[in-house]
Formats: sequence, structure tokens, C-alpha cells
Amino acid sequence: MDLMTIYLDNAATTWPKPESVYQAMDKFARESMANPGRSGHSMAKASEKVLEDARVALNRLFEGASPDRWAFTLNCTDALNMAIKGVLNDGDHVITTDLEHNSVNRPIRSLELSGRITVTKIASDEGGTLDPQEIAKAFTPKTKLVVVTHASNVLGTVQPVEEIARITRESGALILVDAAQTAGLLPISLDKTPIDLLAFPGHKALMGPTGTGALYIGPRVTIRPWREGGTGGDSKTETQPTDYPYFLEGGTPNIMGISGLLAGIKWVTQQGIEKIHQHENSLAKKLSEAIANLPGIRMLGHQDWSKKVATVSFTIEGLEPYEMGNILDSSFAIAIRPGLHCAPHIHGAQSTFPDGAVRASLGPFNTEEDIDALIGALKEVLGE
Ligand code: ALA
Repeated sequence: MDLMTIYLDNAATTWPKPESVYQAMDKFARESMANPGRSGHSMAKASEKVLEDARVALNRLFEGASPDRWAFTLNCTDALNMAIKGVLNDGDHVITTDLEHNSVNRPIRSLELSGRITVTKIASDEGGTLDPQEIAKAFTPKTKLVVVTHASNVLGTVQPVEEIARITRESGALILVDAAQTAGLLPISLDKTPIDLLAFPGHKALMGPTGTGALYIGPRVTIRPWREGGTGGDSKTETQPTDYPYFLEGGTPNIMGISGLLAGIKWVTQQGIEKIHQHENSLAKKLSEAIANLPGIRMLGHQDWSKKVATVSFTIEGLEPYEMGNILDSSFAIAIRPGLHCAPHIHGAQSTFPDGAVRASLGPFNTEEDIDALIGALKEVLGE
């Protein structure tokens, strides 16, 4: 990528990564990239230690029950599929929402279409926020799982997951939280909030590389592994060893990626998630306020920045989101994401289906100058 690019697509993946993440992966690849836990030699042990350290770091950051309850995955989609397909049984009822990404919508819809589960989808309000009481009303004796995003990847609206988790716990069902847009950006305490399953990517606000993610499996959860294979530790058993996290981690993990994720978690912790969140949100607020009154622009979602992550989505009358994306890319070297953002239902609810919207999403390395460049480009295109 051209170093002059103004990157405003951090909700898809953060870029650039902290220098320490690049350095950690380079060092690990050159010095320790043996197969973890398999061979017993010093390099294999060094490799395994990176996995263990990353589990300890995640458990500390999110206050989980113990480091072995964290299974590494390819990304957030992988973690969500592992949870949904590993927990649900025939006849179960699932409650989910119109804010979800296709990584939730599609596995649930395919189980529903095959007649195995029933589903209730709760609508968010006009501003893009869920009412926990609407979720409370949807429980049936068969409700096994509530699946809810922590923040919309389209609107940036943060959802009342603490209250939804408490309601779910009282019902006896399990809750799976999709923290794709919030892990590393908003505080999440698994000790204080009764979340049973937490899925997230390593490559967004935790600042790791692509190809990393994790699923937290709380003590109340019974889950089936959907990927079985070698774990290194116990080759005698005919089926997957039942000890966590290896139960869910058949095959050689993306250990180099996890070395980068570990460095990313350390960087985020050192900076302070509150400070990163405030930095991003102050830029997002400035952007949003500067463009809201430009001719033909319609902002999506509520604009209360105390309840959002730094995602700014809007439509432009008479200009397709893809056209605007192309103009910003080719004429201004500004990278945003146009379209449906893999979340078609919330675009339907916001009347922006099927063309979607223009989405600018901020990261920790964005500056006032980046925002000024986007504001200037939009004014120029819109003839202001
Ligand atoms: N889910 C990611 C996004 O919102 C890829 O762009």
C-alpha cells in the first residue's frame, strides 16, 4: 500500500499496526517458529510459551475464568461459528438481532433453514440501539442462546450487553457476544458481566495481524469441537482430547500471528483502552459534525458519541456509496468501505439496502489531518 494513503477502514481491520507488532512477528519467525507443544525441544517450548502468554494476557484484559478457556481462532467469524455450531442442538431456539454481521446471520440462518433451530430476530430502534426489554420478551422455554453484537459495525452504536447478559443469565440460556468492533476498545469484564461466550478478531482493536481471533468459553458452556485433529499433547485418544483449550484447537495454530497479537495486546494495554477510544471518538465526532449538513448527506445511527465506537456511516443523495468509495480512493487516496458491510439487515432497517452506505472508521493512528482530508474531499465532490 502507498504510504500516503489515508486509511479510514479500521472497522474492517486496523492499519497500520504498532511497530512492536511488526517487530514481534519478525523476531518470532526468525527465532522460534517451531510447532508449539508437539516436539518437546527448546524451540517448540518457546513457541508454546507465546501461546500461553497470549492466553494469560487475554484472560487478564477481559477478566475471564482462566487462561485455558481461550481458544485461538482464524478470525471472529471462525470464533462465532465455533460457538454457534458447537453449542446449539436440534430443537433449540435462538434470539438474535437485526444489527448482526453475516458471520452471525449466516450460520444461524442455515441452521434455521435446515429445520434444526428456530430464531427470533429483535429489531434495533431508529438510532441503532437494542432495547433489552424486547429481548426479555422473546425468551421461550426452548431458548438456548442469545447472540448479540457489542457494537454495530455499520452504525458504531454500542449495545447494552451488560443488561442483556443479566437478563439472559436469569433465563438460564447462554449468551454469545460478538465483540468484533469492541475488543481492545471498550472495557469488557467477564467477571462482572455474565457473558458465556465472547468472540472477537485479533486484527482489529487488539492490533494483531489478520488470521487471528479467539473464543472465550465460560464455565457454564458445553460445546462440541467443529475442528478436530492433532493437538500435540495426547496422541493416544481416538477422539479429541477434552482438556481446554486443545479440545477446540486441532491443528497447528497461527503461532506467528499470535506472537503479533500478544504484542498488540501489550501495546493496547500500555496505551490504555480508554485513551484510544477517546482519541478515536473525538475524531469521529469532528468528522460527523463537519459533514452532517453538507448537501444530500444523511448520517446513519444516533450521534451520541458517549455510546458509540468511531464508525461514521452516511449516504449521499444521487451518488452510490461505491461511486463515492472509488472517487475517494482514486482521486484523494482515502480508503473507506462502501456498501453493505456484510450486515444487510441493519441496512434494511435503516432503508439503505441494497446499496448500503459510505463508512469511515477510525483507528488509533488516525490524526486531525486525516479527518480534515476526508472533510475537504467530501466538500469538493459535493461542490461546497
Ligand atoms: N466485519 C468487517 C467490517 O465491518 C470486515 O468491515
